[in-house]
Amino acid sequence: MNTLTGKHIVIGITGGIAAYKSADLTRRLQEAGADVRIVMTGAATEFVTPLTFQALSGHPVFFDNNDANEASGMKHIELARWADAIIIAPASANTIAKLAHGRADNLLTTLCLASEAIKCFAPAMNRVMWDDQSTQINCRTLIDKDWYQFGPASGPQACGETGEGRLLEVSEILTELERCFRSGVLQGLNLIVTAGPTYEAIDPVRFIGNRSSGRMGYAIASAAQEAGANVTLISGPCHLPTPALQNFIAIESAEEMQQAVLDNIEKCHIYISAAAVSDYRVENVAIQKIKKTEDDLTLQLIKNDDIISIVASHASRPYVVGFAAETENVTENAKDKLVRKNLDMIVANDVSTPLDTSTKQPDIGFNSEYNALHIFWNQPSDNETLGERHFDIARKSQLAKQLISLIAKQYNINKKQHAQNTA
Ligand code: PMT
Repeated sequence: MNTLTGKHIVIGITGGIAAYKSADLTRRLQEAGADVRIVMTGAATEFVTPLTFQALSGHPVFFDNNDANEASGMKHIELARWADAIIIAPASANTIAKLAHGRADNLLTTLCLASEAIKCFAPAMNRVMWDDQSTQINCRTLIDKDWYQFGPASGPQACGETGEGRLLEVSEILTELERCFRSGVLQGLNLIVTAGPTYEAIDPVRFIGNRSSGRMGYAIASAAQEAGANVTLISGPCHLPTPALQNFIAIESAEEMQQAVLDNIEKCHIYISAAAVSDYRVENVAIQKIKKTEDDLTLQLIKNDDIISIVASHASRPYVVGFAAETENVTENAKDKLVRKNLDMIVANDVSTPLDTSTKQPDIGFNSEYNALHIFWNQPSDNETLGERHFDIARKSQLAKQLISLIAKQYNINKKQHAQNTA
């Protein structure tokens, strides 16, 4: 499977003769399995027609003042949340300047300002414009703001001159884009990620379960693998395609999950528990299907072990990241779990009933494509104050990538501190 498979990619096209090459980029991204949406600036539509890109991408093209923005209900905020990456190719000197200064005077620049997706730009312009000090400063500003710059290439230009400023070849843009998804921040580390629900049997056909789809955990496992980790995904029953990971273990019950975790914990550097593990199981599971003979049925439940607490007290304790699925007092309850379960980090998400549909906010948490995360962690340098970050509503794949970057950073800080303490 390609790194770009299943990724949501927005191609931003600005005004320049190289805009026609974006047609090939669209096609090649789709061949790689990416889901592509096109946003064009007004100037871009003078070089190539939106219809070309609509036909190629199979989706309405977004440009300023067109109906597609409304018709599909995907205005800049939705598109910003939808994207895993935004690649502006070609990126004109004008758009680069606007982005560098945080201007948002058209759909593309507004979208970029509103998005936490990976952002990349492939400059294409006349060599003198490229060499101009303002353009150079603007590009550096974007790189400082975590944008990835692809190219430009050098060679003959449409204006008849020769020099630097040509759009990078499409194949090179694809290679660079793939590289952005493979950050390498967890290179060589062993991770265990748990995902999905557990099923606690009542009899051979019935069980106690929950609404977890596994999406959050699977997205974290994929993001961790893209970041270079060796990932073991331990998954409860989910209706998701089995991910192409180093190690995938399917389990059903909390007890099976516990066993799978303990079998793999020795060499684990980071443990991320996104699974919705059942706190209780049925004490006496019926061997035969329970018949409907009585008006009432009482099931005696007994407590399951708290797997994450066992991991946190293990002799070779990994960096332990828990999730807190809360319906109320999200922050307080999450902080309480961080302490009570002896975790390094806790990722809180609100799993109360779907939000008011009139707000047009996507549903988040259980069994949704979207989530929002509030994260707290212990800081080795400051025992008094917890570290804290909030990741606003976005697709779980986008959040997983942000979360993995944060975990990698905190893991390294902890490791450094531990080394200093034991020196
Ligand atoms: O799967 P999705 O549909 O994408 O939804 C994602 C999610 C909402 C399930 C996920 O983001 C999430 O919040 N997972 C944790 C759910 C949960 O069980 O939270 P909790 O507050 O009950 O448990 C706290 C932590 O203890 C969790 O890390 C949990 O995995 C762990 N735990 C709980 C019970 C138990 N017996 N053993 C555990 O290890």
